[in-house]
Amino acid sequence: MDTLFNKLGGQQGIEQIVDEFYKRVLADNTLNHYFAHTDIEKQRHQQAAFFSDIFDGPKQYSGRSMETTHKGMNLQQQHFDAIAKHLSEAVAVRGVSQEDANAVLARVGSLKDAILNK
Ligand code: HEM
Repeated sequence: MDTLFNKLGGQQGIEQIVDEFYKRVLADNTLNHYFAHTDIEKQRHQQAAFFSDIFDGPKQYSGRSMETTHKGMNLQQQHFDAIAKHLSEAVAVRGVSQEDANAVLARVGSLKDAILNK
């Protein structure tokens, strides 16, 4: 099936995107302090599972809701935008079409209010 998950390269593609994504997030001084106490290996695993779910791959995610996870972090638009930029760069590594890259950002964008607890 031609799901976004498959267009991103399936499980392997998602895992590569997640690796590229956290490489960029952890190198970004406006973001990395949020992850100072996070088990990054576990986080990569959770994020890959979550992306599988939201990009129409196999249902894998059994973590917390976006509201609960990010509550109390006082995240602002600028943090969300920075994360979205790193994700779009990570997706670009897979050489996906502009249309698919836009679809990724649209799905993640639909979670913004939940993540920013607005
Ligand atoms: C594209 C938007 C985002 C998505 C899809 C997303 C998704 C997730 C997921 C799936 C988890 C794992 C939750 C769990 O294991 O129960 C998580 C945790 C986390 N997120 Fe996000 N997130 C986003 C934006 C952000 C932003 C903007 C920040 C702050 C810069 C952030 C900081 C964190 C931190 C620090 C954790 C780990 C919390 C812990 O160590 O327990 N996230 N996120």
